[in-house]
Order: sequence, then C-alpha cells, then structure tokens
Amino acid sequence: SGDRSDSRGALVVLEGLDRCGKTTQSNKLHKYLEGLGHSAELWRFPDRTTSVGQMISSYLSNQSQLDDRAIHLLFSANRWEKRTLMESKLKSGTTIIVDRYSYSGVAFSSAKGLDMDWCKAPEIGLLAPDLVLYLEIPPEKAAERGGYGGERYEHLEFQKKVSKSYQALHDASWKVINFSFVDMALKKL
Ligand code: TYD
Repeated sequence: SGDRSDSRGALVVLEGLDRCGKTTQSNKLHKYLEGLGHSAELWRFPDRTTSVGQMISSYLSNQSQLDDRAIHLLFSANRWEKRTLMESKLKSGTTIIVDRYSYSGVAFSSAKGLDMDWCKAPEIGLLAPDLVLYLEIPPEKAAERGGYGGERYEHLEFQKKVSKSYQALHDASWKVINFSFVDMALKKL
C-alpha cells in the first residue's frame, strides 16, 4: 500500500475464532502471493517450536495449569521473541502472513474476564500489521464444522465470549470477511 516503501514487505494478520478457516485461508493467500512472484512467508502464533511456545502448547493441551495472567504474558513473549526476525524479514522485502497475532492475545485473555487494557499493554511495541483480515463466523457455525481438537479454549461457550471480545477490539481498519464468501473476498484483494 502507498504509505510503505516499495521494498518493504507487508505484515498481514488473519484473525478469528477457532475453526473459522484462518489456516486454510492463510495458506491460500500465501500461495497466491508467491504465484504473483512476491517473496512471502506464512507464520503462526503461538509459535510452538520455541521453548516459550512449548509451555503454551502444554497449557493449551491441558497438560499444565497456569495463572491467566501468566499464560497471557507467555503468548505475548512468544511474539516478542520473534520480533527481530519479523522486522528483518519485512525490511528485506518479504511479506509475512500471520495466522493469529496480538488481537488473539487480547481477545482470548479478555474473554476470561481479564481487563482489556491490561491485556493490551504487553503488546505495545510489537510491529503493527499493515492489514488485518478478520474471518467472521458465528460461534455456532464454527462449532458445527467439527474438528475442535479438544484444546483448552475449543468450547462453544468460551468461543462466544471470544467473539464478543473481538467485536470490542475491532476497528474500522480491519477487513471483515464473512465465512460464507471468504474465498470470493480474498480473490479480490
Ligand atoms: P492456534 O494454534 O491458532 O489454534 P489451532 O491449534 O486450533 O490451530 O491457537 C491455539 C489457541 O491459542 C487458540 O485457541 C487461540 C489461543 N491464543 C491465545 O489465547 N492467545 C494468543 O496470543 C494466541 C496467538 C492464541
């Protein structure tokens, strides 16, 4: 877009509830950009490959218990530990598509009842996305898709709260894509 120098890559973030189709769509977007000849990488958070990511993974699969604020800070730390690499990739002209970012951090933790401003604080200073794509799906529809993997947050009642948090977070700069025409909308980007 116009306010970036031509050589810099874009940071594109996909957000949404569990089972909204983010992973499929981020894969498609990645292939599409590569097909156009752009240098592009597909990232995801949590990045479960780091030691912080392994703590997160163990929490999500209910193998460990953590205080709500402690896990919130780990999710944030998991983004901070990738910040330098992210910045250098973007500077070198690579576009990064990220499956979940700070908005997930805030939406999921505040859905537990944590104060939203408290949740936002550790995200301040991370790289700002150039584009946020929100894949909108009613929580009931997402649940119907099946395949909830049994991880900690994958329950309809909690997803309803996450959906409300996303609504509170959402601003006019987000592109909201309804689940029923997600493929069509992404082709027009
Ligand atoms: P993810 O790996 O995208 O889910 P999946 O295994 O279904 O592909 O994310 C795992 C869970 O972590 C998901 O329920 C959202 C939640 N989450 C947070 O609570 N905070 C965060 O900062 C992030 C990135 C994810």
